[in-house]
Amino acid sequence: MDRELNGAMRSVSINSAQLNGHNNGGGLDETDRVGVAQGAALSATEKLTTTTAAATKSTTAATNATTATTTNLATHSPQQIALLSAAEKSKMVHELCQQLLLTDEQVEELCYRILHELRRGLAKDTHPKANVKCFVTYVQDLPNGNERGKFLALDLGGTNFRVLLIHLQENNDFQMESRIYAIPQHIMIGSGTQLFDHIAECLSNFMAEHNVYKERLPLGFTFSFPLRQLGLTKGLLETWTKGFNCAGVVNEDVVQLLKDAIARRGDVQIDVCAILNDTTGTLMSCAWKNHNCKIGLIVGTGANACYMERVEEAELFAAEDPRKKHVLINTEWGAFGDNGALDFVRTEFDRDIDVHSINPGKQTFEKMISGMYMGELVRLVLVKMTQAGILFNGQDSEVLNTRGLFFTKYVSEIEADEPGNFTNCRLVLEELGLTNATDGDCANVRYICECVSKRAAHLVSAGIATLINKMDEPTVTVGVDGSVYRFHPKFHNLMVEKISQLIKPGITFDLMLSEDGSGRGAALVAAVACREDILNGKK
Ligand code: BGC
Repeated sequence: MDRELNGAMRSVSINSAQLNGHNNGGGLDETDRVGVAQGAALSATEKLTTTTAAATKSTTAATNATTATTTNLATHSPQQIALLSAAEKSKMVHELCQQLLLTDEQVEELCYRILHELRRGLAKDTHPKANVKCFVTYVQDLPNGNERGKFLALDLGGTNFRVLLIHLQENNDFQMESRIYAIPQHIMIGSGTQLFDHIAECLSNFMAEHNVYKERLPLGFTFSFPLRQLGLTKGLLETWTKGFNCAGVVNEDVVQLLKDAIARRGDVQIDVCAILNDTTGTLMSCAWKNHNCKIGLIVGTGANACYMERVEEAELFAAEDPRKKHVLINTEWGAFGDNGALDFVRTEFDRDIDVHSINPGKQTFEKMISGMYMGELVRLVLVKMTQAGILFNGQDSEVLNTRGLFFTKYVSEIEADEPGNFTNCRLVLEELGLTNATDGDCANVRYICECVSKRAAHLVSAGIATLINKMDEPTVTVGVDGSVYRFHPKFHNLMVEKISQLIKPGITFDLMLSEDGSGRGAALVAAVACREDILNGKK
């Protein structure tokens, strides 16, 4: 057994036992218990005891801090609290936010649990019940820089739907034209037929506007939802995420639905060469320039990562070419925690978000991280503190009390203020109808934003460090995209710091911002898929 495999298996055994210890069996299935029975090594058990004890201690500390605040809130009326000094209010804010801070032990514990879940997704026996599905993408080749040609790309699954025309040229050069189309709310939760008809219509309009209406071009479809892929051009939707819920698509082949919609129109012709996740596109677009790029990460509306795995680890992949040693895995780690594995760090605010979401009980990890939820998390903390009289003298506003109206971009804006300066913060508060904020209020609002975004960065870092340690390569570049990573002023640095703490000694890594992975990456996957054809002059 090789070193990495041995190490990883030990971690899994440790982890299985830990999970059972924490949950008393709640939410876990038979496979976890089998894991415990197999977890034998003494050193592993010792480590288990230490880590579990540490994690329990830190959880207890956080609970105590919350209880202390609750006692204060319970014994003082909002009017009394409003009269406290700025320092006392700030102390209460810090105490209540304690539950949002992850201790080093908790982050370490998370790494073990994520590894355990990844392994469950990869293994044939455990895959059906796994939360982190680790879907095979069928991508085995990274771009080599020789990809050329004109491609169409569709990008569905972020904030916007886009159609793109990409011309890959020599010397890592490319031209790209794109157009954003709105997906109205009624289509996001309407029927699948409506959705795909809308996509086909946008594609046809785009092709007409860009003078390629009569051409038959290869197309890469970035479809950023959990997809059970059966090949590079076939994938069944597992479940919708991020506010989409179109009827009749789950368990259907999304490529076929697209082709059907195009055929119903009968006006344009395309070759769907690949369907891919946005994490795959991100990885591919970075790998085009940097051959060490082996992980793709999105921290945007949703959160997810993909990575290059050794073929023998991906038990669901029926390899066809023995010369190819790796395959790209779409982890779909947004669903991590759906079985209770994150309960030891979830807060009342996370539970509130979940209960009021379109998909309760699903995408637990994603709901603690991504842009679709980050602003709302902050809003919930603000509401609680305002109602308690700690913030804004207890005076709220209609906007503050309305779900979804504290946008995630506000978090980035507030944290972009220089220390001690609250210019952006005041602008945001004004938009919320909160005009009587003191400097103390602003400092507290900023602190709340920092706690929520730092927790998100640390959760993502735990995931990335786990992947880096699992891959066990000397150098890894992580291709990253998504609005939170791109626009939050500290997310990158928070991640670099935390990942450095968590990876094995001797491994180096860097985070590379992807240039439009969902668009260019889609063209690259399509291009790599037909690279041989292009080189042979068949296309
Ligand atoms: C989806 C993933 C996607 C991620 C980022 C998640 O909600 O399930 O497929 O990669 O969002 O867009």
